[in-house]
Amino acid sequence: MIVDLRSDTVTKPTAGMLEAMWHAEVGDDVFGEDETVNALEEKAAKMFGMEAGLFCPSGTMTNQIAIKCFTQPMDELIADQTSHVYRYEGGGIAFNSAVSTRLLNGDRGRITAEMIGPEINSAENVHYPRTSLIVLENTVNKGGGSCYTIADIKPIAELCKDKGLKLHLDGARIFNALTHTGDKAVDYGKYFDGISICISKGLGAPVGSVLLADKATIKYARRVRKVLGGGMRQAGFLAAAGIYALDHHIGRMNIDHAHARVLAEQLVQCSWVKNVLPVDTNIVLFDTIEPAEVVLKKLSNKGIKANSTDTHRIRFVTHLDIHPDQVEYVVKALKEL
Ligand SMILES: Cc1ncc(COP(=O)(O)O)c(C=O)c1O
Repeated sequence: MIVDLRSDTVTKPTAGMLEAMWHAEVGDDVFGEDETVNALEEKAAKMFGMEAGLFCPSGTMTNQIAIKCFTQPMDELIADQTSHVYRYEGGGIAFNSAVSTRLLNGDRGRITAEMIGPEINSAENVHYPRTSLIVLENTVNKGGGSCYTIADIKPIAELCKDKGLKLHLDGARIFNALTHTGDKAVDYGKYFDGISICISKGLGAPVGSVLLADKATIKYARRVRKVLGGGMRQAGFLAAAGIYALDHHIGRMNIDHAHARVLAEQLVQCSWVKNVLPVDTNIVLFDTIEPAEVVLKKLSNKGIKANSTDTHRIRFVTHLDIHPDQVEYVVKALKEL
């Protein structure tokens, strides 16, 4: 048996999703004529209480466009040191936006208003880059799927408003966060200036991410997307998968979370595991006594694919294509490793 726990991006479209893609009405989206793309953008915006949306090929692109929209060259943004926008987007903050990054050391990637406050630079002093944007990630990938609640976000949003800063959410796994916290998507629109949601992670669509913001921001974001080469033509086939995922795949995410907990419960009992981080959603991070590389090889010999996130840390991610029999198989394999 092969069990792929490397990422929730490895899922293949379900039969229902393929059917929806097959029947999609499409047009040229660069001309604004793809009605399925338009429908996905409207649906996602409404869900999160935002005015408008922009469908893009990747979460990296929606994040980078948001940063471009909310900053000017020479500005600074503040984010956690584990954040995807800083660590895993190829230096795009500097390359695309000519912006510097102030990194904070949050709790499993979660930062607070108290931490952010003293790090905001005065716009008056020419020595300092002007702080213009705060970026949060929910769930935090490198934090092991840790979540912010709306109650955590509110004081940060209030601080941003008070100081005239923009607030962007990297919500690549926002639906996992909502499943865990019970917060409502529609409330997010009150607090964020931009939200990037991914349809190709836990939701199981093959491609894409939607940037949500007000109409003026999305108008500018459309221009930036074009410049980055992200203007797609008959993208409705992909958007149809996204609409299908929003309708059918959010309600089942608690299954992925339960699977992650089962794996963590077994890992805690393994003598070759040093430490298992708390599991809130679909990501399990654990530290190994032997180098991760050695353990990954042993797992691979049993057909279990995973990735390391550090020399002695391994990540398992559960998703739509991980079924109960596979979880059972992995539990048994972990016992025998
Ligand atoms: C938290 C987070 N943000 C953004 C992204 C970027 O998404 P994409 O791979 O679609 O560029 C990822 C990808 O794994 C992610 O984990």
